[in-house]
Amino acid sequence: MNRHATVLYLILLLAAPRLGEGRGLDDARRERRGDGLGGGAQRQRRLLQTADDCARSVPKCVACRYQFVQGTVSKAVCLACEQGYVVKAAGRACWCAPGYYRSSSSGECTPCGMGYWCPGAADDEASGEARYACGTNKITVTQYAKWDRECVTQPGYGWAEGNASAPCPKGTFNPGYNNRACASCAGGLTTSAPGADSPADCRAPEGSYYLRGKAIPCAQGTYKASSGNVDCSECPAGTTTAFGEVGKKAAADCTYVLPGHYAAAGQTPGEFTAPQCLANTYRSGAALYSPGTGVACMPCPDNTQTLTGVRGATSRSACLAPPGYGWNATDGTAAACDYGYFKAGWDREACTKCGEGTITTAAQASASPDACYTPAGHGNSLSADGLTLTGFACPVGTYGRELATYGLVDVECSKCIENTATNGTGSTSAAQCVTLPGFGWDNGGSQICEFAYWSAGGSQESCQYCGEGFNTTAAGGGAAARGADSGDDCAIGAGWTDDGVGSIKPCLQGSYKSLLGPSACVKCPSGTTTTLTFAPTALSDCDACRTGFGAAAISGTAPACAICESGTYSFGHTSGGQDCQPCPSPDGYSGAMVSRRGIPSPDGCYPEFGTDAATSSLPYDEIAMSDAALSEAAANGTASDCEAACAGSTGCQYFVFVDGFAAGTSCKTRELGVAAANVSAPGSYILFEIGSGVYLAYNAHSSDWASTGATIGTFTTRALAAAACDTQATCIGIVSNADGSSWRTFAGATHVGATAKVRVSGPAINPWIAEPTAS
Ligand SMILES: *[C@@H]1O[C@H](CO)[C@@H](O)[C@H](O)[C@H]1NC(C)=O
Ligand SMILES: *[C@@H]1O[C@H](CO)[C@@H](O)[C@H](O)[C@H]1NC(C)=O
Ligand SMILES: *[C@@H]1O[C@H](CO)[C@@H](O)[C@H](O)[C@H]1NC(C)=O
Ligand SMILES: *[C@@H]1O[C@H](CO)[C@@H](O)[C@H](O)[C@H]1NC(C)=O
Ligand SMILES: *[C@@H]1O[C@H](CO)[C@@H](O)[C@H](O)[C@H]1NC(C)=O
Ligand SMILES: *[C@@H]1O[C@H](CO)[C@@H](O)[C@H](O)[C@H]1NC(C)=O
Repeated sequence: MNRHATVLYLILLLAAPRLGEGRGLDDARRERRGDGLGGGAQRQRRLLQTADDCARSVPKCVACRYQFVQGTVSKAVCLACEQGYVVKAAGRACWCAPGYYRSSSSGECTPCGMGYWCPGAADDEASGEARYACGTNKITVTQYAKWDRECVTQPGYGWAEGNASAPCPKGTFNPGYNNRACASCAGGLTTSAPGADSPADCRAPEGSYYLRGKAIPCAQGTYKASSGNVDCSECPAGTTTAFGEVGKKAAADCTYVLPGHYAAAGQTPGEFTAPQCLANTYRSGAALYSPGTGVACMPCPDNTQTLTGVRGATSRSACLAPPGYGWNATDGTAAACDYGYFKAGWDREACTKCGEGTITTAAQASASPDACYTPAGHGNSLSADGLTLTGFACPVGTYGRELATYGLVDVECSKCIENTATNGTGSTSAAQCVTLPGFGWDNGGSQICEFAYWSAGGSQESCQYCGEGFNTTAAGGGAAARGADSGDDCAIGAGWTDDGVGSIKPCLQGSYKSLLGPSACVKCPSGTTTTLTFAPTALSDCDACRTGFGAAAISGTAPACAICESGTYSFGHTSGGQDCQPCPSPDGYSGAMVSRRGIPSPDGCYPEFGTDAATSSLPYDEIAMSDAALSEAAANGTASDCEAACAGSTGCQYFVFVDGFAAGTSCKTRELGVAAANVSAPGSYILFEIGSGVYLAYNAHSSDWASTGATIGTFTTRALAAAACDTQATCIGIVSNADGSSWRTFAGATHVGATAKVRVSGPAINPWIAEPTAS
């Protein structure tokens, strides 16, 4: 009995009367309720025996009753013993209760004590001495263990019958205070040493790690050299453990180099890291490290590369065709994109064709569609599906850009402006749009060459001028035409003609030329002329009468003017025509006015018989002539009557009025049949000077040579005589001999009181001067 048990025992002894007999309180209670051996008030009274009374009858009894046995004295029957005792021997004894034993030293029932179990007395008091030790590493939790099974394990020990208890082996545990064997750690866990008393001591062993109560083998690429609930360690960077194997326990198991890594030769597994493959190299698959050779990465095949900045490629598939390079699926290499191709991405695609036709690139290995270009002078067109650009040289008549156009963008050829074209295909600027033949550059555009201009085209120059007087025809001649394309088309124009010496000249006034070419100018028809003074071109230009001709109006299609008859004149040159104008009469003169035909002005107008003496420039009254040359005139009366008589006679050349010629006769006329004389024909003529250099010419009588006037001079020709007369103050005329071989000038004679007047006849004035012709 240990000290603690002893103290408890003493307390129990002191309290025993109140706590009841060792038999137990349960027995005592049954007695009180009357379901024991007796009943009623009498039994109550018997129970009230004092503890001392009971103890005197039965040692250690604290409650008892008396039992009357037939033929004997009554005996005390113990109902309850002290603590640690139990009613035995039919109430006649209190022996050690289970959990107590009879101490050999004190003889008292003593608590069994920690680490022991005591079954209590059985058949005799001595059996209450039994006290058994629990066994090695077994303990009890009370001092009153009654049974072997109240022996429990010490923490960290496993239960076994008897004293076979031993520390829990490694990998098992027992918290103790039970009858169980050591439990194995769950899930492959283990303990670090024998004697574990808690599942918390279960740890992941080497080569594994702890996860929710289980040991999980270190995954590939990790290892764990110690047991414990810590994570597995990673193999050094770039290395791993054997493929498919787990639960490695040492860094030295990191014998493989990871894909995408390399390691130099001569190193020890677990002690080196394997760097990532460098750019443009790769290595696939884990490789068992060989210290002899190391592990190397493979270079990417021809022209292939890993993405910029990417290291540690684990497969050849990381070797891509970089921009500008096309993938060759046949051998897994790459090659620079050819001219006309490009590739933008990092990938395994072939180069893309920029387009069809002339679309190309400036260099190989182009990395962007922006490197594709449509060449200068080229355009492109998009296919119907909108996917393919086709380049082509800008066709004739269009032009492209001056520089190449980069990028896959629409490029159009621009149309040349109207009437221009390019010489060939592929033109690069509007400046190459040149004029078509027959067109010239003007005012920023191409215009057809006007009349008299020509251009062979093919330039941006203006049409060339054929020159003044020229016009243009269509090729090969014909009518005037615009758009001449050759200098050969320049022809002599209307209004102009060949001047015969290698040049041309304009048609003069009064003529015209409507035709192209070298033909002559055509004179205006009968009596007409042009008001144009320069290069008239049409019959209608004959729009006026010539000088000395007249017409009331001129028809454009059949223009004609008639010569002005005697007594009229015309300045001509009035557009549209004008009649010949009557000669104006001098003041006070009322007789007829006469003139040569076709005179240009009134200067050639003369009064038929002159005027009175005061205004007459000629001394008509002084002509001296033989009377034989004169005829008796019918006229009688006055000088005016005589003048009228002469005017009335076609052949009258002049008259003389004198009172007292023959009886009853005062008027005589000179008659010679015809009024005008052809002085060019041989014959005898008499000419009266009526103005300076102006003579009237009449046929003469043969006697006139001798009888007319007083001779001033004699000459061999009419011209000499006429010229002399013009200078001789007294000369009034000239006369020729019969054959016109001798001419003399003569002066008049005075007849006092006589009147003599030469009759001016238009056709007889200066007849050697030809009349103006109509054409
Ligand atoms: C049990 O233990 C006791 C004392 O500790 C010892 O004397 C006895 O030999 C043991 N029995 C066995 C079977 O080990
Ligand atoms: C791709 O590679 C094969 C084999 O080397 C070669 O014959 C072929 O010409 C290549 N193709 C191109 C488009 O380069
Ligand atoms: C066009 O062609 C003509 C004739 O062959 C040549 O004279 C001219 O210079 C060319 N013009 C241009 C712009 O090429
Ligand atoms: C050329 O002929 C045309 C047609 O007859 C005419 O209209 C034009 O005025 C002429 N030009 C010249 C310069 O003669
Ligand atoms: C003219 O007059 C005279 C005298 O008066 C006269 O004798 C004569 O017969 C007349 N002559 C004519 C032709 O009448
Ligand atoms: C004038 O006379 C000449 C010479 O005889 C002749 O040639 C010419 O025809 C005549 N003229 C006229 C108008 O009779």
